[in-house]
Amino acid sequence: MKRSPAFCLLAILAFSSAAANTRGTDTQLVKTTVFGKLKDGREVRQFTLTNNRGVTMQAIEYGATIVSLSVPDRKGKIEDVVLGYDSLQGYVDDTSYFGAIVGRYGNRIRRGQFQLDGQRYSLTINDGENHLHGGRIGFNKVLWNGTVLDDPAGPSVQFRYVSKDGEEGYPGTVQIAVTYTLTDQNELRIKYEGTTDKPTILNPTQHSYFNLTGDFTRTILDHTLMIEADAFTPVSKGLIPTGELQKVAGTPLDFRTAVRIGLRIDDADEQLRLGQGYDHNWVLRGNPGQVRKVAELYDPLSGRLMSVLTDQPGLQFYSGNFLNGAAKGKKGIAYQRRSGLCLETQAYPDTPNNPQFPQVTLRPGQVYRQTTIYHFSTR
Ligand code: BGC
Repeated sequence: MKRSPAFCLLAILAFSSAAANTRGTDTQLVKTTVFGKLKDGREVRQFTLTNNRGVTMQAIEYGATIVSLSVPDRKGKIEDVVLGYDSLQGYVDDTSYFGAIVGRYGNRIRRGQFQLDGQRYSLTINDGENHLHGGRIGFNKVLWNGTVLDDPAGPSVQFRYVSKDGEEGYPGTVQIAVTYTLTDQNELRIKYEGTTDKPTILNPTQHSYFNLTGDFTRTILDHTLMIEADAFTPVSKGLIPTGELQKVAGTPLDFRTAVRIGLRIDDADEQLRLGQGYDHNWVLRGNPGQVRKVAELYDPLSGRLMSVLTDQPGLQFYSGNFLNGAAKGKKGIAYQRRSGLCLETQAYPDTPNNPQFPQVTLRPGQVYRQTTIYHFSTR
C-alpha cells in the first residue's frame, strides 16, 4: 500500500510525541523548582525525586544538599527523616552541615597541614586549630549544577562542581559529580566521581542528620544502632586520631550487635568525654572498594529501619552532640542536643598524616569513586 507524504509526516509526529511523552513521564519523577536565590542573584534549584512507592527525596544545588527524605513508618505513614531548614537562608547561615555534601576532605586534618610528594600544604583552619569538612567555604557552601539523569534504577539527579586549584588551600582543580538516585526498593543511592589535574586529596561525604521518628522535637537516643566494625580510631583533644586502631570490645563504642544509642552515651569513658558523646570513626569490616552493609539504624517507635551500605573504609558516627537549640530548623523547631545523628561514610579522619591508614591521594588520570546506599524498610 502506498502512503501519502502527509500520512508519513503524521506518523512521524505521532511517534515523536509518544517518545516525548515517555520521556515526560520519566522526568516527572523528578520535579525541578526554584528553592531560592543567593545574595548575588544566582538561582538555587530544587529537585524532587519520587519513586513508585511514594518515597521522596529533595535536594538543592546549594551544597548538593538533601533537604528532605520522606519514608514510610511501619503503618505506611510517610514522614521526613532528615533535619534541615525551610529556606535557603537557613542553609546559607548553617554551621552544622545539615544534609550537605562535605569536602574536599570530610572530617578533620590536624592543624590543616599535610604533605604530598614532598610538598607541604596548609588548609584553612576552621575548627579550633584544625581543618574540618573542607574549610570555611567547603563543598557545602558552594553552588553546584544539577541535572536530571535518565537512570533505569529510578529518579536521579546529578550535581557537579569544579573546585579550583588552591581552594581552601587544596592543590589541583577538582571536578566532582555527586549523583542521588531513589530506587523503587526505597534506597537512596549516592555515587561520587572526582578527577584532578594535580596530585591532591579527596574524601567527600554526605552529612545528613537522621531522626527516624520523623519528629524532630525528639532525640535519637532511643534509636538502636549496629555497626559492622571490630575497631575504631581513638582520638585525642580536638577529635584528631591518635593513629592507633582500638578494639571496640569492652568499650561503649561496641556496636557489633544493635544497642540503644542512649544506653552508654554518657558513660565515664575518655573517648566519650573527648567527643561529648559519639563522634568517632569506626574501622569497617570487609574490603574497602566493595559495597557491603556496614550499619543498621532502627527506631522502635516508628519501625523505620535504615541500612547503610558503602565501599568506604570508615564510618563516622556523630550523635549530634554539638546541636544546642541554636539552629531553628524546619517548622521553626529548635534542634536540641542529639536530635539527629550522622552516619558519614568516608576514609578515616586525618588520613594524610597517617600513612598506615587507607590513603586518599588522587592523581591526574585517576578517578575517585564512592558508592553509598541508605536503604529504608520497616520492622
Ligand atoms: C563531626 C563533628 C562536627 C560536625 C559538624 C561531624 O561530622 O564529626 O565533630 O561537630 O560534623 O556539624
